[in-house]
Amino acid sequence: MMRSLFLLFAIALGADAALADAEPAGKRIVDRVCSACHANDLSEAPQLKQPAMWTARLAKGRDALVHSALNGFTGPTGEEMPPRGGRPELTDAEVMAAVDYIISTVNLKRNTP
Ligand code: HEC
Repeated sequence: MMRSLFLLFAIALGADAALADAEPAGKRIVDRVCSACHANDLSEAPQLKQPAMWTARLAKGRDALVHSALNGFTGPTGEEMPPRGGRPELTDAEVMAAVDYIISTVNLKRNTP
């Protein structure tokens, strides 16, 4: 009994690890860090599920968005995007992956009615 329980546990852990590997790094960071504001109706941040909130931002181009995400950004509304989403331990590559994931998610939503 203990043995089979242990086995089940090990399988569950293994499946989890495989899932994490299959998931793009950008999505993991967005889920873990960025969605606290970007998928939170209580936040003034542009929401992932509302592509219209991103139209003007996407028009600035990827480089500008990466720059904002790395260094922080305060737009005309005075709402604040903290540098690296407030997580200084994120590497440049991780922040870029998160921005790319946001861009692709928003574009996907824009193109699917
Ligand atoms: C504490 C809340 C918060 C977190 C966490 C957060 N953001 Fe933001 N983000 C904002 C707000 C608010 C804005 C809008 C700022 C404005 O326009 O004044 C914003 C704007 C942005 C923009 C658009 C910038 C521009 O130039 O228009 C990008 C890109 C972005 N965030 C990426 C990210 C990424 C990537 C993460 C995770 C690593 C993240 N954000 C985490 C609050 C947050």
